[in-house]
Amino acid sequence: MLARKARLPDADAIHGLIRSLSYDGTLLPRSPAEIYENIRDFTVVETEEGKFLGCGALHLYGPHLAEIRSIAVSEESMHQGAGGHLIEALLEEAESHSVPCVCLFTRIPGFFQRFGFEQVDRTALPDKIYKDCANCPRLNACDEFAMARGALPATAVLGPVRVKEHLVPLQV
Ligand SMILES: CC(C)(COP(=O)(O)OP(=O)(O)OC[C@H]1O[C@@H](n2cnc3c(N)ncnc32)[C@H](O)[C@@H]1OP(=O)(O)O)[C@@H](O)C(=O)NCCC(=O)NCCS
Repeated sequence: MLARKARLPDADAIHGLIRSLSYDGTLLPRSPAEIYENIRDFTVVETEEGKFLGCGALHLYGPHLAEIRSIAVSEESMHQGAGGHLIEALLEEAESHSVPCVCLFTRIPGFFQRFGFEQVDRTALPDKIYKDCANCPRLNACDEFAMARGALPATAVLGPVRVKEHLVPLQV
């Protein structure tokens, strides 16, 4: 099993896996266009023979913060270490960019605790809130845990000016 940066020919497999896990809200849906555009964020894990097992993405907000997103392993490949392999590869990537804090939002905090992630108050991650939560229908009924690894950011690059005018004020 090996983890490597995704390339455009991986986009269909990535899209299919994410779509299969987004009907019930396990993952945020990602359109093919969004995956193509952000393909350089993605890492895939595959067998020695090149069979696709899963994917994950690292989104860079800036020198202060990165986010692990879209972590998924195909059902028949779970519990064999692929998920852990992905997280370690994405954390190494964050480290290669010298990003001191990696965050994620999840319903399964237990899986991420063993990699050093701790639950945090979501208001400590304003960039994430303005990127995704502000446009999310579950803004005020979110069932995900905010988690972070490393020093929480003291700064943010996104802000209220980017929130669409018709949205309700943030109450997080
Ligand atoms: C979470 C996920 C990526 C783990 O992938 P994986 O390849 O099975 O992970 P690993 O084999 O490296 O580790 C498995 C271990 O992680 C932990 N784990 C796995 N799923 C878990 C969950 N839902 N809750 C808590 N711990 C979990 C268990 O300790 C498990 O050990 P076990 O195999 O002895 O049961 C995979 O289950 C998945 O794709 N789930 C659906 C998508 C999802 O929920 N993604 C996270 C969104 S934030």
